Parts: sequence; structure tokens; C-alpha cells
Amino acid sequence: MTEPGEQLSHQDELDLGELAEVLSLIDAATEADGVSPVSEHVLLHLRHGGDGEADNLLVHSVDGRLAGYAHLDRTDLVGGSSAELAVHPEHRRRGVAGALVRGLEARSPDGRLRLWAHGQLPGARALADRFGYRQARVLWQMRRSLLSGLPTGPMPQGVELRTFVVGRDEQAWTKLNNRAFANHPDQGGWSVSQIQMREKETWFDPEGFLLAVDTADGRLLGFHWTKVHGRDGGPHAHEPIGEVYALGIDPSAQGRGLAPALTVAGLRYLRNLGLSQVMLYVDEANTGAIRVYERVGFTRWDVDVSYRRSGLALDPAIGRRGQEEHHPDHEEPEEPFDDQTEH
Ligand SMILES: CC(C)(COP(=O)(O)OP(=O)(O)OC[C@H]1O[C@@H](n2cnc3c(N)ncnc32)[C@H](O)[C@@H]1OP(=O)(O)O)[C@@H](O)C(=O)NCCC(=O)NCCS
Repeated sequence: MTEPGEQLSHQDELDLGELAEVLSLIDAATEADGVSPVSEHVLLHLRHGGDGEADNLLVHSVDGRLAGYAHLDRTDLVGGSSAELAVHPEHRRRGVAGALVRGLEARSPDGRLRLWAHGQLPGARALADRFGYRQARVLWQMRRSLLSGLPTGPMPQGVELRTFVVGRDEQAWTKLNNRAFANHPDQGGWSVSQIQMREKETWFDPEGFLLAVDTADGRLLGFHWTKVHGRDGGPHAHEPIGEVYALGIDPSAQGRGLAPALTVAGLRYLRNLGLSQVMLYVDEANTGAIRVYERVGFTRWDVDVSYRRSGLALDPAIGRRGQEEHHPDHEEPEEPFDDQTEH
């Protein structure tokens, strides 16, 4: 329980005074913990406004100062709501986070809630345990400069690159993706409509969606789908950064060096757009993919952990894909990489 007089409130839009308080609470937590309690995505929402779908939960202390803040994102109807929260260092261990978690649960439409924590802090883990949440995913964000030299990454013999053709490649690509991710239920099992949905997104760029094909018969062997964040300007404008959005190799083509070759080809594309940095998300458990990325110069930049309330029944209408973890900095189902048998 919070202290007597501490108040939980929520609002869609923060006024300028509240915004300043929230940003100063985030600064204080960052200073105390050595890592920001919220993702870049939430900071951008706060600084520049967002799509109007976010909910802000605030806990004010008796003297009217902001003690805790939570940002609830209810836009992911598939994965369920997700939230990030922070308590001012001077107000910790008094139940403020507990009040926020209960408030978040009450405001999550179907009761499902994921909490994202940054930097693997012991307080976050303890809080999750205390409220019956279990660790669902550990995601590494990796980055590398595009200004430094790229490895050569030659294409294996009998393989050539071309770009994705909208209206023609959807079916074959979906099959390839599902084969490449057959051991990763959350990333496989796509339907054609799932790629078609993404084709309508402003960031979608077929020129940055590279396909490796068999020179003899044109069969798809692998893909590297790149993405650029922040190119459109708009409310989330920031210096554009490239992303290795998805990379997959057909099981029959694994072990031939296709993954590093495709990775490098995509990095070259992003560099030619004038970008200076590239990032990616990868599941900590996907050691094969991490090795590929390290080999082409990526290093670990940040670690994010998502906690999910345990014992929650999945909505049968949502089924298996309801288990996806939607990362706050990543607008789509992430865990984009697989390279199970490359090495
Ligand atoms: C983690 C954090 C939100 C906890 O805030 P808080 O207001 O101190 O948490 P509460 O007082 O509500 O604690 C609720 C329970 O969580 C556990 N807990 C929280 N912080 C803990 C810590 N540092 N060590 C051990 N247990 C802790 C305890 O079980 C506690 O219950 P108790 O005090 O009755 O034993 C705060 O430390 C913070 O802002 N950290 C940085 C951002 C972050 O990690 N966010 C969490 C994402 S899941």
C-alpha cells in the first residue's frame, strides 16, 4: 500500500507541468540506477506527443510531488498491453510501484499485462516476483556503426541477391519465413496477410528487403528485411537509425555463410542511405544469431527484460501468436533473427 495521502491518477495527455515532472523523475531514476527506466520510444512519446493511445499513470506523494510514473501502451491487441514504470529514488520501498502495477492491471483491457524493465536491475526483478510476474523474454539490443568498415561477406556460390517484389513474393516469402522459424513458434506461422499488413506501413521499403535466391531455379533461400527508424520526421522524429528488422535462412541453405553475407548486404544498403548507425533486437537465447552479429561488428548496447503475469490463460481466439512479446521500441513482433545451424 502507498502511504496515506499518496494518490494514483491517470490521464491520456500530460500538461506541460506534469510532463516536466515526469521527465525529471525519469532523469532522477536514470541517475540513481545508471540506466533509463523507460525506452527511447516512451521518451519520444513524452517529448513529442504520440498517437494518443498511451495512458499515463501518476502517483503523487502527500506533499504533491511526483513519486511514481507508468506508461501504459494498449495498442497491441495481439500481444496485450505493455508498460514501463519508474519510482523516484526518494520514494522507493513504500509501495508506490505496487500501486502502479495494480493500476496498470486495472486499466489493461483484458487483464493481460507485460512489464518491460531495462538494464536487469534487482529491484525490477523483485517487484515482478512479488506481484506474480515471470520473466518472459530477455532481449539484447545490439548496435554497430555504419561509418566503420564493413566485412566483405561474399555470397555463397550459386546464390544471388534481388529485392522483394510487392504483389509477387508474398507467398514464397511467407513459406520461407515459416521454414526458417519452424523452431520458433512465435516468429513462424505467419500468414500472407501479416506481410501484406506491413507493406502498408510508411516505413516499408522493398529496396531494403533483400532476398537471396538460388541462381539455378530462383528459389528463395534467405532474406534480410531492413527498416529505417525516424526517417519520416513527424512526432517521433530523431536521428534516423537503421535496423536489421528480420533475417532468416531456409534450413536447407543454412551452414553456407548466407547469414553473414545477407547481413552485410543489408548493412551496405543502410549505409548507402546515408545512415551512420544500425541496431537490432535479438533474444539472448539465440546464441547462433548473436555470433553472426558479433562477427559482423555488432556489440551489445542494452538489455531489456519483459515480465508477464504468470498463470494467465491465453485468449483462445488469439492462440499461439498471443504469446509474442511486443517490444516498446519495436513496432512489430520482434526476435527477428534465426540462424540455428549456421555454425
Ligand atoms: C523497481 C521499482 C519500480 C520499485 O519501486 P518501489 O516503489 O520501490 O516498489 P514498492 O515499494 O512498490 O515494492 C513492492 C515490492 O517489490 C519488491 N521490491 C521492490 N524494490 C525492491 C528492491 N530494491 N529490493 C528488493 N525488493 C524490492 C518488494 O517485495 C516490495 O515489497 P515490500 O517492500 O513489501 O517487500 C523502482 O526501484 C524503480 O523505479 N526502478 C527503476 C525502474 C524499474 O526497474 N522499473 C520496473 C520495471 S518491472
